[in-house]
Amino acid sequence: MMRVGVLISGRGSNLQSLIDAQIAADLPVEIAIVISNVADVEGLARAEAAGIETCVIDHKFFDGREPFEAALTEALKTAGVELVCLAGFMRLLTGDFVSEWLDRLINIHPSLLPAFKGLDTHARAIEAGARFAGCTVHFVRPEMDDGPIIVQAAVPILELDDPASLAKRVLAQEHKIYPLALRLIADGRVRVEGARVLIDGAEAPSPDGMVNPSG
Ligand code: GAR
Repeated sequence: MMRVGVLISGRGSNLQSLIDAQIAADLPVEIAIVISNVADVEGLARAEAAGIETCVIDHKFFDGREPFEAALTEALKTAGVELVCLAGFMRLLTGDFVSEWLDRLINIHPSLLPAFKGLDTHARAIEAGARFAGCTVHFVRPEMDDGPIIVQAAVPILELDDPASLAKRVLAQEHKIYPLALRLIADGRVRVEGARVLIDGAEAPSPDGMVNPSG
């Protein structure tokens, strides 16, 4: 069992997908702690309902990023966390925090990185006339929404889509790929090599060039 800490700031639907996968006993991980930088959010209630330890570490009560992140690291280490999952955690993390958790810190982002880093990804993808949107689980690096990509899912952009309708379909894929990425890591199949991730036992590309990273 790999001990996982999940950092959230809000709704927590991605956290829920990880909890559901854990409960289905199908994921060799134990979510040891859920930390939110915002009090009273839905994600905290989801964790409590699942009997998971929760903790609020509000950045507003700290004098700068370093002491805030030191408190995060202390809580994570006290809970025996081996891997940190950012799940809608809306604070930028410093290089020091990223180094402390290097290759043990992953994030989910609602675009096909490296396209559309940052906020309002769906509105920007529609505006740009992209035919596909999607989501990415990646190892975190100091640059925002940057780092070796573990799993992605693509979603077609339809002519009638608005940001909300597209977000809904992308979110459904987020809830599939985050547990998948966690499983690949927990099974020891993921290796970071430079800017890329190599997955042990991933299937060879089919003739149409698609790759199934779940093997
Ligand atoms: C998700 O769509 C996630 O990909 C996004 O915030 C949402 C959180 O929803 N994350 C980012 O934009 C990070 N750059 P959730 O709280 O229901 O999981």
